[in-house]
Amino acid sequence: MTAPLKNDCFIRALLRQPVDRTPVWMMRQAGRYLPEYRRVRQQAGSFMNLCTSPELACEVTLQPLERYRLDAAILFSDILTIPDAMGLGLEFVEGEGPQFRHPVRTAEEIQRLPVPDPEESLRYVPDAVRLIRRELAGRVPLIGFSGSPWTLATYMVEGRSSREFRKIKGLMYEQPQLLHSLLAKLSEAVSVYLQAQIAAGVDAVMVFDTWGGVLSPLQYRQFSLQYAQQALSGISLERDEQKIPAILFTKGGGQWLETMAASGYDALGLDWTTDIGEARALVGDRVALQGNLDPQALYAPIPALREEVRLILESFGSGSGHVFNLGHGVWPDVNPDHVGAMIEAVHEFSPAFHQG
Ligand code: CP3
Repeated sequence: MTAPLKNDCFIRALLRQPVDRTPVWMMRQAGRYLPEYRRVRQQAGSFMNLCTSPELACEVTLQPLERYRLDAAILFSDILTIPDAMGLGLEFVEGEGPQFRHPVRTAEEIQRLPVPDPEESLRYVPDAVRLIRRELAGRVPLIGFSGSPWTLATYMVEGRSSREFRKIKGLMYEQPQLLHSLLAKLSEAVSVYLQAQIAAGVDAVMVFDTWGGVLSPLQYRQFSLQYAQQALSGISLERDEQKIPAILFTKGGGQWLETMAASGYDALGLDWTTDIGEARALVGDRVALQGNLDPQALYAPIPALREEVRLILESFGSGSGHVFNLGHGVWPDVNPDHVGAMIEAVHEFSPAFHQG
């Protein structure tokens, strides 16, 4: 039905099957550090215009693949599409990041929230997936994604990016049951959203839990991991008898890896504060690991950058189960040549870790 993948080393590594070299892609690989992205972004007028136009979303998804030897494409979209479709009114204010016109805080506001039908109010997302998949024609796998219920809830309750998380934590301490009801609804929304992306053609899914790391260990399990798990258990991770691997990335989650490894996800994303070799020793062969170069290393002189790449490959060591990535998204002012040098260093150094 669909073109078989010509390069499946990313999928194989996520499933801990043998590979010839370590696959590599980069969080926010389609973005402002690329002049060709900035051109299309300007044409589109706004970031959301870019996301809601399947043709433009497809174009920018493919841009980094034209430049670099990447082993995966990631759908160009945003995690805040779900709350937008729930009616919160998403706006990206220049220099301030995302904001919602109608944040939710009361029981009534939370109960009223619909679970969006992805083929209705979020139709532009599966439409973009169908188009990208056709254009990719099996070159590399396509990653679909969602925010985690907890991370989506932080934006929906705070109404914008936050440092202190006073409103969401206020809700957590004052009315935990109300927060649980919001998280349960978001888990369902995430499940149907990811299921629609799988049906439309993504080959792997990733859940971004950007703000899980601001919780205490017990809170992390109760308010973040539990719902990331609930969202996953609502999805059939298969298409045409192909397994669709799922990745969980909790920024700042390095101290909870053993619990995360038992959550049902096939792979865990690591930020750069975790030693990937130590992480591997902890999780054993239960999950694959993705990461975890410090995004600031891309500002370093190329020899120093290459050495950082080598250290991560060496720390993970021999054998499959590693997907090379940054520990968080690439910064907009990074030199694209340094991104290329990072990717080439993975191609150059990693085969030595996959012999025999
Ligand atoms: O990785 C990719 O290439 C795919 C696209 C992608 C974007 N956002 C595009 C984007 C993905 C996977 C995301 C996820 C996302 N969005 C997260 C989780 C990952 C993370 O970084 O922790 C979060 C927290 C968001 C919410 C969001 N969207 C923020 C905080 C911002 C930054 C605002 C800013 O002005 O920098 C965005 C906007 C955004 N999402 C941009 C891109 C390329 C930049 C917008 C622009 O081009 O003007």
